[in-house]
Amino acid sequence: MEPVIDIAGLSVTYDSRHGPVKALDGLTLAVQPQHVVGFLGPNGAGKTTTIHTLLGFVEASAGTARILGTDVRHSIARRRIGYLPELPDFYKFLTGRELLFMAGRLFGLDRITLKSRVAALLESVDIASAADRRIGTYSRGMLQRIGIAQALVNDPDLLIFDEPTGGLDPLGRMAVRELIGRLREQGKTVFFSSHELSEVELVCDRIAIVAHGRLVAEGAVNELVKDGQSLEKYFLAVVRGTGDEKHHGTDAGASTSRTSNIEH
Ligand SMILES: Nc1ncnc2c1ncn2[C@@H]1O[C@H](COP(=O)(O)OP(=O)(O)O)[C@@H](O)[C@H]1O
Ligand SMILES: [Mg+2]
Repeated sequence: MEPVIDIAGLSVTYDSRHGPVKALDGLTLAVQPQHVVGFLGPNGAGKTTTIHTLLGFVEASAGTARILGTDVRHSIARRRIGYLPELPDFYKFLTGRELLFMAGRLFGLDRITLKSRVAALLESVDIASAADRRIGTYSRGMLQRIGIAQALVNDPDLLIFDEPTGGLDPLGRMAVRELIGRLREQGKTVFFSSHELSEVELVCDRIAIVAHGRLVAEGAVNELVKDGQSLEKYFLAVVRGTGDEKHHGTDAGASTSRTSNIEH
Protein backbone atom coordinates (compact mmCIF):
# COMPACT_ATOMS: atom_id res chain seq x y z
CA MET A 1 0.00 0.00 0.00
CA GLU A 2 1.18 3.51 -0.75
CA PRO A 3 2.55 5.26 2.33
CA VAL A 4 0.57 8.24 3.63
CA ILE A 5 3.80 10.09 4.36
CA ASP A 6 6.83 9.33 2.23
CA ILE A 7 9.99 11.30 2.98
CA ALA A 8 13.19 10.48 1.12
CA GLY A 9 16.63 12.01 1.61
CA LEU A 10 15.14 15.26 2.94
CA SER A 11 17.55 18.05 3.84
CA VAL A 12 16.64 21.48 5.17
CA THR A 13 19.11 24.25 5.98
CA TYR A 14 18.10 27.48 7.69
CA ASP A 15 19.99 30.71 7.34
CA SER A 16 20.68 32.20 10.73
CA ARG A 17 22.75 35.09 12.02
CA HIS A 18 25.45 32.60 12.94
CA GLY A 19 25.51 31.01 9.51
CA PRO A 20 23.61 28.08 8.01
CA VAL A 21 21.94 25.55 10.34
CA LYS A 22 21.40 22.08 8.93
CA ALA A 23 18.10 21.04 10.53
CA LEU A 24 17.45 17.96 8.38
CA ASP A 25 20.26 15.94 6.90
CA GLY A 26 18.95 13.32 4.51
CA LEU A 27 15.89 12.21 6.52
CA THR A 28 14.10 9.17 5.13
CA LEU A 29 10.84 8.02 6.70
CA ALA A 30 7.57 6.42 5.63
CA VAL A 31 4.26 6.30 7.51
CA GLN A 32 1.77 3.66 6.43
CA PRO A 33 -2.02 4.11 6.35
CA GLN A 34 -3.86 3.80 9.67
CA HIS A 35 -0.71 3.73 11.74
CA VAL A 36 -0.32 5.90 14.83
CA VAL A 37 3.32 6.94 14.79
CA GLY A 38 5.20 8.75 17.56
CA PHE A 39 7.92 11.00 16.21
CA LEU A 40 10.64 11.28 18.86
CA GLY A 41 13.97 13.01 19.19
CA PRO A 42 15.89 15.41 21.44
CA ASN A 43 15.24 19.15 21.26
CA GLY A 44 16.59 20.50 18.00
CA ALA A 45 16.59 17.08 16.30
CA GLY A 46 14.44 18.35 13.43
CA LYS A 47 10.90 17.21 14.33
CA THR A 48 9.16 20.56 13.82
CA THR A 49 11.19 21.17 10.67
CA THR A 50 10.00 17.84 9.27
CA ILE A 51 6.40 18.76 10.06
CA HIS A 52 6.82 22.25 8.61
CA THR A 53 8.18 20.75 5.41
CA LEU A 54 5.16 18.45 5.13
CA LEU A 55 2.92 21.48 5.54
CA GLY A 56 4.79 23.49 2.93
CA PHE A 57 6.04 26.16 5.39
CA VAL A 58 9.67 25.27 4.78
CA GLU A 59 11.41 24.38 1.55
CA ALA A 60 13.77 21.42 1.30
CA SER A 61 17.23 21.90 -0.16
CA ALA A 62 17.40 18.23 -1.18
CA GLY A 63 15.17 15.18 -1.21
CA THR A 64 11.42 14.78 -1.51
CA ALA A 65 8.36 14.63 0.74
CA ARG A 66 5.04 13.23 -0.42
CA ILE A 67 1.63 12.96 1.19
CA LEU A 68 -0.65 10.31 -0.32
CA GLY A 69 1.56 10.31 -3.39
CA THR A 70 1.52 14.08 -3.99
CA ASP A 71 4.65 16.19 -3.56
CA VAL A 72 4.16 18.59 -0.65
CA ARG A 73 5.26 21.48 -2.85
CA HIS A 74 1.73 21.24 -4.32
CA SER A 75 -0.81 22.66 -1.86
CA ILE A 76 -3.37 20.06 -2.97
CA ALA A 77 -1.28 17.51 -1.00
CA ARG A 78 -2.63 19.14 2.18
CA ARG A 79 -6.32 18.82 1.38
CA ARG A 80 -6.67 15.62 3.44
CA ILE A 81 -4.54 16.76 6.41
CA GLY A 82 -5.39 18.08 9.84
CA TYR A 83 -2.63 19.92 11.70
CA LEU A 84 -2.08 21.02 15.29
CA PRO A 85 0.90 23.39 15.62
CA GLU A 86 3.42 23.21 18.45
CA LEU A 87 2.23 26.49 19.94
CA PRO A 88 -1.31 27.11 18.73
CA ASP A 89 -1.95 30.83 18.46
CA PHE A 90 -5.61 31.23 17.59
CA TYR A 91 -7.50 34.49 17.39
CA LYS A 92 -8.24 35.16 21.05
CA PHE A 93 -11.34 37.23 20.36
CA LEU A 94 -13.12 34.35 18.66
CA THR A 95 -15.10 31.79 20.60
CA GLY A 96 -14.23 28.11 20.22
CA ARG A 97 -17.32 27.59 18.08
CA GLU A 98 -16.45 30.53 15.83
CA LEU A 99 -12.91 29.21 15.36
CA LEU A 100 -14.25 25.87 14.14
CA PHE A 101 -16.71 27.58 11.78
CA MET A 102 -13.90 29.70 10.38
CA ALA A 103 -11.63 26.67 9.89
CA GLY A 104 -14.45 24.75 8.18
CA ARG A 105 -15.20 27.60 5.81
CA LEU A 106 -11.55 27.65 4.74
CA PHE A 107 -12.13 24.09 3.53
CA GLY A 108 -15.29 25.17 1.69
CA LEU A 109 -17.74 23.24 3.87
CA ASP A 110 -21.36 24.33 3.51
CA ARG A 111 -23.21 25.77 6.51
CA ILE A 112 -25.44 22.78 7.14
CA THR A 113 -22.58 20.25 7.13
CA LEU A 114 -20.50 22.62 9.19
CA LYS A 115 -23.15 23.22 11.83
CA SER A 116 -23.56 19.55 12.67
CA ARG A 117 -19.84 18.81 12.38
CA VAL A 118 -18.86 21.67 14.68
CA ALA A 119 -21.41 20.56 17.29
CA ALA A 120 -20.09 16.97 17.14
CA LEU A 121 -16.46 18.10 17.37
CA LEU A 122 -17.12 20.36 20.35
CA GLU A 123 -18.68 17.37 22.12
CA SER A 124 -15.90 14.97 21.17
CA VAL A 125 -13.15 17.20 22.55
CA ASP A 126 -15.28 17.90 25.62
CA ILE A 127 -15.43 21.64 25.21
CA ALA A 128 -19.11 22.10 24.39
CA SER A 129 -19.78 23.92 27.67
CA ALA A 130 -17.10 26.52 26.84
CA ALA A 131 -17.88 26.70 23.12
CA ASP A 132 -19.27 30.23 23.31
CA ARG A 133 -16.49 31.67 25.44
CA ARG A 134 -13.62 33.59 23.92
CA ILE A 135 -10.49 31.54 23.24
CA GLY A 136 -8.51 34.16 25.18
CA THR A 137 -10.06 32.73 28.37
CA TYR A 138 -9.15 29.08 27.61
CA SER A 139 -6.63 27.10 29.66
CA ARG A 140 -3.69 25.40 27.95
CA GLY A 141 -5.56 22.06 27.95
CA MET A 142 -8.65 23.65 26.40
CA LEU A 143 -6.50 25.33 23.75
CA GLN A 144 -4.98 21.98 22.80
CA ARG A 145 -8.43 20.40 22.58
CA ILE A 146 -9.97 23.16 20.47
CA GLY A 147 -6.79 22.94 18.37
CA ILE A 148 -7.39 19.26 17.77
CA ALA A 149 -11.05 19.93 16.93
CA GLN A 150 -9.90 22.58 14.46
CA ALA A 151 -7.52 20.03 12.89
CA LEU A 152 -10.43 17.60 12.42
CA VAL A 153 -12.93 19.96 10.85
CA ASN A 154 -12.24 18.80 7.27
CA ASP A 155 -12.53 15.12 8.33
CA PRO A 156 -8.90 14.49 7.30
CA ASP A 157 -7.29 11.09 6.68
CA LEU A 158 -3.96 12.18 8.16
CA LEU A 159 -3.44 14.05 11.42
CA ILE A 160 -0.14 15.77 12.13
CA PHE A 161 0.28 17.01 15.70
CA ASP A 162 3.42 18.78 16.91
CA GLU A 163 3.82 18.06 20.65
CA PRO A 164 0.10 17.73 21.35
CA THR A 165 0.64 17.09 25.07
CA GLY A 166 3.27 19.82 25.57
CA GLY A 167 2.62 21.85 28.70
CA LEU A 168 -0.42 19.83 29.78
CA ASP A 169 -1.14 18.44 33.22
CA PRO A 170 -1.78 14.68 33.61
CA LEU A 171 -5.53 15.07 33.02
CA GLY A 172 -4.94 17.14 29.92
CA ARG A 173 -2.45 14.58 28.64
CA MET A 174 -4.91 11.78 29.21
CA ALA A 175 -7.61 13.66 27.28
CA VAL A 176 -5.29 14.07 24.30
CA ARG A 177 -4.25 10.42 24.52
CA GLU A 178 -7.89 9.34 24.47
CA LEU A 179 -8.54 11.54 21.45
CA ILE A 180 -5.64 9.96 19.59
CA GLY A 181 -6.96 6.51 20.54
CA ARG A 182 -10.35 7.42 19.10
CA LEU A 183 -8.76 8.64 15.86
CA ARG A 184 -7.03 5.28 15.60
CA GLU A 185 -10.39 3.50 16.01
CA GLN A 186 -11.75 5.63 13.16
CA GLY A 187 -8.93 4.38 10.93
CA LYS A 188 -7.06 7.68 10.71
CA THR A 189 -3.32 7.93 10.27
CA VAL A 190 -1.72 9.95 13.07
CA PHE A 191 1.83 11.30 13.05
CA PHE A 192 2.77 13.24 16.16
CA SER A 193 5.92 14.47 17.82
CA SER A 194 6.32 14.09 21.55
CA HIS A 195 8.69 14.16 24.48
CA GLU A 196 6.45 12.02 26.63
CA LEU A 197 7.92 8.58 26.07
CA SER A 198 5.57 6.81 28.48
CA GLU A 199 2.61 8.26 26.62
CA VAL A 200 3.97 7.41 23.22
CA GLU A 201 4.37 3.83 24.40
CA LEU A 202 0.69 3.73 25.37
CA VAL A 203 -0.83 5.19 22.25
CA CYS A 204 1.48 4.43 19.31
CA ASP A 205 1.76 1.47 16.96
CA ARG A 206 5.20 2.57 15.89
CA ILE A 207 7.88 5.09 16.69
CA ALA A 208 10.39 6.95 14.57
CA ILE A 209 13.38 8.51 16.31
CA VAL A 210 15.28 11.38 14.75
CA ALA A 211 18.60 12.84 15.87
CA HIS A 212 20.68 15.49 14.10
CA GLY A 213 18.18 15.59 11.27
CA ARG A 214 18.45 11.89 10.44
CA LEU A 215 16.30 8.88 11.19
CA VAL A 216 18.09 6.69 13.74
CA ALA A 217 15.40 4.12 14.53
CA GLU A 218 11.97 3.17 13.28
CA GLY A 219 9.68 0.28 14.05
CA ALA A 220 6.98 -1.20 16.25
CA VAL A 221 7.59 -0.37 19.89
CA ASN A 222 7.50 -4.04 20.94
CA GLU A 223 10.03 -4.97 18.23
CA LEU A 224 12.47 -2.21 19.12
CA VAL A 225 12.25 -2.35 22.90
CA LYS A 226 13.37 -5.70 24.26
CA ASP A 227 11.62 -7.39 27.17
CA GLY A 228 12.63 -5.85 30.46
CA GLN A 229 13.84 -2.66 28.79
CA SER A 230 11.89 0.58 28.71
CA LEU A 231 11.29 2.86 25.76
CA GLU A 232 13.12 5.55 27.72
CA LYS A 233 16.26 3.41 28.02
CA TYR A 234 16.08 2.47 24.37
CA PHE A 235 15.60 6.08 23.35
CA LEU A 236 18.59 7.27 25.39
CA ALA A 237 20.80 4.51 24.00
CA VAL A 238 19.88 5.26 20.41
CA VAL A 239 20.19 9.02 20.77
CA ARG A 240 23.48 8.81 22.69
CA GLY A 241 24.81 6.52 19.99
CA THR A 242 24.53 9.43 17.59
CA GLY A 243 26.80 11.62 19.69
CA ASP A 244 23.78 13.60 20.94
CA GLU A 245 24.25 17.38 21.23
CA LYS A 246 28.05 17.44 21.49
CA HIS A 247 29.02 16.47 17.95
CA HIS A 248 26.31 18.06 15.91
CA GLY A 249 26.28 16.78 12.39
CA THR A 250 28.23 13.59 13.05
CA ASP A 251 27.18 10.55 11.12
CA ALA A 252 24.47 8.46 12.74
CA GLY A 253 26.50 5.36 11.88
CA ALA A 254 27.24 4.64 15.54
CA SER A 255 23.68 3.51 15.94
CA THR A 256 23.34 1.37 12.82
CA SER A 257 23.35 -1.82 14.87
CA ARG A 258 20.07 -0.64 16.37
CA THR A 259 18.48 0.50 13.16
CA SER A 260 17.71 -2.85 11.58
CA ASN A 261 14.04 -1.86 11.53
CA ILE A 262 14.58 1.09 9.26
CA GLU A 263 12.63 0.29 6.13
CA HIS A 264 14.77 2.04 3.58
N1 LIG B 1 13.69 29.40 11.71
C1 LIG B 1 14.86 28.87 12.06
N2 LIG B 1 16.03 29.52 11.81
C2 LIG B 1 17.23 28.99 12.14
N3 LIG B 1 17.37 27.78 12.75
C3 LIG B 1 16.25 27.09 13.03
C4 LIG B 1 14.94 27.59 12.71
N4 LIG B 1 14.02 26.68 13.11
C5 LIG B 1 14.72 25.66 13.65
N5 LIG B 1 16.06 25.92 13.61
C6 LIG B 1 17.13 25.00 14.07
O1 LIG B 1 16.97 23.78 13.36
C7 LIG B 1 17.21 22.66 14.22
C8 LIG B 1 15.98 21.78 14.26
O2 LIG B 1 14.94 22.45 14.95
P1 LIG B 1 13.47 21.87 15.11
O3 LIG B 1 13.02 21.30 13.82
O4 LIG B 1 12.63 22.94 15.71
O5 LIG B 1 13.71 20.67 16.15
P2 LIG B 1 12.73 19.94 17.16
O6 LIG B 1 11.32 20.25 16.77
O7 LIG B 1 13.07 18.48 17.02
O8 LIG B 1 13.06 20.44 18.54
C9 LIG B 1 17.63 23.25 15.54
O9 LIG B 1 19.05 23.31 15.55
C10 LIG B 1 17.02 24.63 15.53
O10 LIG B 1 17.75 25.51 16.33
MG1 LIG C 1 9.70 21.08 17.82
